[in-house]
Amino acid sequence: MLERFTFGDLDSAYESFLKHSGLSECVLLQTCNRVELFGFGEVRDIERIKKTWASVSGLEEHAFRENLEISQGVDAYQHLLKLTSGLDSLVVGEEQILGQIRDSISAARQMGASGMALNMLFERAIRVGTRVRQATGISKGSISIGSMAVRLAEENIDDLKSRKIMLIGTGEAASLVAKSLKRRGIDFAVTSRTFERSKSFSETVGGRPVGFEEALAGFGSVDVLFVATVAPYFLVTYERVKEAMAARREGMMIMDLSNPRTVDERVSTIGKIKMMNLDQIAEMVDRNMRTRMGVVSSAEKIISDELPVVEAAMKRLEVEPIVKNVFREIDQARLKELRKALQMLGEKDEQRIRIIDQLTQAIVEGIISVPMNNLRKASEQGDEDMVRAVTRLFDYKARE
Ligand SMILES: NC(=O)c1ccc[n+]([C@@H]2O[C@H](COP(=O)([O-])OP(=O)(O)OC[C@H]3O[C@@H](n4cnc5c(N)ncnc54)[C@H](OP(=O)(O)O)[C@@H]3O)[C@@H](O)[C@H]2O)c1
Repeated sequence: MLERFTFGDLDSAYESFLKHSGLSECVLLQTCNRVELFGFGEVRDIERIKKTWASVSGLEEHAFRENLEISQGVDAYQHLLKLTSGLDSLVVGEEQILGQIRDSISAARQMGASGMALNMLFERAIRVGTRVRQATGISKGSISIGSMAVRLAEENIDDLKSRKIMLIGTGEAASLVAKSLKRRGIDFAVTSRTFERSKSFSETVGGRPVGFEEALAGFGSVDVLFVATVAPYFLVTYERVKEAMAARREGMMIMDLSNPRTVDERVSTIGKIKMMNLDQIAEMVDRNMRTRMGVVSSAEKIISDELPVVEAAMKRLEVEPIVKNVFREIDQARLKELRKALQMLGEKDEQRIRIIDQLTQAIVEGIISVPMNNLRKASEQGDEDMVRAVTRLFDYKARE
């Protein structure tokens, strides 16, 4: 499901959102657990955003019905702070998400998709996330999906060290498993489609490289199989495992860390097979996390202290389009009158023109700066009545 929402071509996704969704800024964040769109703009039309998303990803609009979570305003800020702090990750406190968020905002900046509001919001959220990690040590001692998978194998299989272990995959998730096996001094074979990749993986992370086809055909001799790939089909099929199990007496444990799954679910129905998928492993990680609840609540405390500060800064920005518009319109009127006056005076002297120009600017700014700063303050304090009154006074309309 997650894959269907994923944006294949980020550049064109950004282009479409900015053109069609009504948002004036956006940031896309996609990891193996989430696809998120952060938007900012005067027009907040959720239906229009969904429509744009559906057309970018080739989805039917009803696909959003059960799969979309929407947060706005302070809830959205809180969500982002939780993300940067690692509180919303499968493995609480993990570091990876902070880097992924940094990459997302810098990609959005480069595309010109984020602006004053989202740049500021993400900058603050990254700062809060870093602070939470430093102050609580939440990232230390958190258990990764990889080491939880190894720990579960250890709990389920006697004397893991003497067993035949195979790891399919040479990416990030596979290296979490490999590191954990290596730390325990457990020998294992590793494979991926390109032998060179398995070889360099084994040199840098550990394991013995084996050929891909040889590995897939050799399940019969494997006691524990870890699978962590992004194959778009079942690499470990029911038939292969059934055949392998027919020729052996011992049981076999299979851990599928892939999302979407790359081990056929039906494999779990074969006798003497113990199988766990990513959700089950993540649940164990989650249980482990709950035992570190003290750390989590200190992290939450920091977030709730920081949240009003972020909210106030964002609220201040919300009225920026009104402020800009008022300044622009008044300045246009000033320039029009200035030109008329200079024409009537027949003034040609550059220095005198500059002085008159500065005089009119100073008068305008002197009159309008205080009310505009008061408007920003009112917005910061959530004084919606004042914002509405100014909007009406200056006949301001949000631009589509
Ligand atoms: N990264 C994490 O922290 C994390 C955490 C939890 C779960 N996961 C899940 O673990 C899986 C792997 O993620 P990753 O982050 O490790 O990805 P990755 O770094 O991109 O590595 C992908 C691996 O899949 C292999 N692969 C790609 N296409 C394949 C195919 N058609 N057939 C067989 N192998 C193929 C690649 O090796 P070759 O191209 O050489 O075959 C590589 O070993 C994903 O399903 C992900 O959702 C990842």
